[in-house]
Amino acid sequence: MDNRPIGVFDSGVGGLTVVKEIMKQLPAEDIVYFGDTARVPYGTRSRDTVIKFTLQSVRFLMSQGIKAVVLACNTASAISLEVAQQQFDVPILGVIEGGAIAAVHATKNKRIGVIGTEGTINSGAYERAIKLLDDSIETFAKPCPLFVPLVEEGLQDSEIAYMAAREYLSFFEDTGIDTLLMGCTHYPLMANTIRRAVGTGVKLINPAEKTALILKRTLLQMDILNDGAKHPRYRYFASDDGERFKKIGSSFLECHISCASKIDIER
Ligand code: SIN
Repeated sequence: MDNRPIGVFDSGVGGLTVVKEIMKQLPAEDIVYFGDTARVPYGTRSRDTVIKFTLQSVRFLMSQGIKAVVLACNTASAISLEVAQQQFDVPILGVIEGGAIAAVHATKNKRIGVIGTEGTINSGAYERAIKLLDDSIETFAKPCPLFVPLVEEGLQDSEIAYMAAREYLSFFEDTGIDTLLMGCTHYPLMANTIRRAVGTGVKLINPAEKTALILKRTLLQMDILNDGAKHPRYRYFASDDGERFKKIGSSFLECHISCASKIDIER
């Protein structure tokens, strides 16, 4: 039994899609969330910068007395998971493994599409993880860099978002994929628009669900699950304006965020 909170880190508000799954599957756990909203998006940044930002963010979460960390940001997971695991002495999970497992289970014809930021797609992390599970699966990957700013602006269901989705996702037209892995925290928020663009014959995979399951299994194995003796406490921190975080975050989580504290992550 361990009542310390779980730390969740994302480059912005998109990681709340992962928080939502953790709340559902681990309802007794306290959560501390940090969204690096002042420096989002990570997806177009260099490897060194993503690693530096990730380590700063995990260091901040460590200062909050957390017992485990989830890198909800796919770009951070793809690029800096191993470095972070080497530097800190709590379990650190990314979202790539969960996403890959869910996609491999879902595909019937062994043709999987992967969408993500440039950083995630260029890293090849999802393709490697999928091949490791089943090397007969064919993958097709496409970066969709405009999706993150569209979601951060609350435009995920707009016609502009649909036009961007049509443009990017036409890449998959002749690939025959039956499964599309949404390899970015923000993309599940755009699922309706993505579905409109690819059609209902393609299964959309959100890595958050499986990631929360892997987290639960890890906490169980390490005997550090919360005993559920009290109501869970959720705390939110952001590196930019807390008011904006509260507004957008509340709609992402579909529940009210009453307080989001702004912190100086560079300090
Ligand atoms: C980003 O920061 O560019 C998007 C977050 C992600 O990769 O999941």
